[in-house]
Amino acid sequence: MIILGIETSCDETAAAVLREGREVLSNVVASQVEVHRGYGGVVPELASREHIRNIDYIVDRAFAEAGLKRSDIHGIAVTQGPGLIGSLLVGLSYAKAMAYLLEVPLVPVNHIEGHICSAYIENDVEWPVLALVVSGGHTALYHSPEPERYIAVARTRDDAAGEAFDKVAKMVGLGYPGGPIIDKLSERGNPRSVPFSVPRFSDGSLDFSFSGLKTAALRWVQERRISPLRPGEEAGPQLLNLAASFQRAVVDTLLDRTRRAAEKLAPRSITITGGVACNRLLRSEFASFFGERGVPVYYPRPIYTTDNAAMIAAAGYPKLKRRIEEGGRGPGSFAQDLELNAYANLGLA
Ligand code: KG4
Ligand code: ZN
Repeated sequence: MIILGIETSCDETAAAVLREGREVLSNVVASQVEVHRGYGGVVPELASREHIRNIDYIVDRAFAEAGLKRSDIHGIAVTQGPGLIGSLLVGLSYAKAMAYLLEVPLVPVNHIEGHICSAYIENDVEWPVLALVVSGGHTALYHSPEPERYIAVARTRDDAAGEAFDKVAKMVGLGYPGGPIIDKLSERGNPRSVPFSVPRFSDGSLDFSFSGLKTAALRWVQERRISPLRPGEEAGPQLLNLAASFQRAVVDTLLDRTRRAAEKLAPRSITITGGVACNRLLRSEFASFFGERGVPVYYPRPIYTTDNAAMIAAAGYPKLKRRIEEGGRGPGSFAQDLELNAYANLGLA
């Protein structure tokens, strides 16, 4: 079965062609980072316009790289939410038009489920899975007792982890996106120099919170009268220490929650997905903690870590398979798929 995946929930226009849900024949992503860089964050209206400009070309490229024609696909999987509504609608409308013309089924995919499934593309995980999703827009922990079933364990009560990285970086003029920059600078800083503490809730909840760390970083910067870097200026020792300490505090928070959830749920695999999963300290800390306990930690490769459409096709595969089995054949079999809508706040569990 050949599937086209389409993802436009935020600032990446992406299309991918997969065979049997795991063999990636192509995976094309047009990043809008340069469009939004000057604003220090994604501007929704600009994002929608870029998606409109790029989508047709990106889908063409996905077919060209896969060596296939549009008429070779058996179905389409498209991101339905959560995300920026204007951006989501570009991908969804495009997918509907294609599904209509080709008379193939169209299944909606939750972007978060896509991130979780990105870890399954190249790894043979075993269930139950404890899935940590850490990106610029989301930070949440899910217990997945079997494929396609998710029980929410924890979510962030304020910023997403990636958003916190981005905001702290912006505050001191390090650039955008902040996560990879802080990751790089942290190599040269002292992770224990700024006294951040891991936030915990008194009600015993495993929820995350990063806004306190962000405020503590701001206070530390103000007390020392550190002014933001000017373009081209190198970060000095104080900013290197701030970067390293902030990164350590975010990673400590993520590990604290995952560790406590794992004690209760006894997962057979842990997956870490979303842009922040690229973070090197996060990887080494999780590997050493869970490695000692014999629980494998799986990450997607970086190309499947940040937003992409291969993960959407991978998540959509079992749904499309069922849809084709149930849907019957002949004209109009999949007409109801054209009624799908997008939802900015779509929940997973
Ligand atoms: O998954 P993604 O592309 O976006 C969303 O779906 O939200 O992730 C982007 C986020 C950004 O906030 C970026 O700063 C962060 O992931 N990020 C990192 C690293 N690489 C990307 N954060 C920490 N360390 C990294 N190495
Ligand atoms: Zn994402």
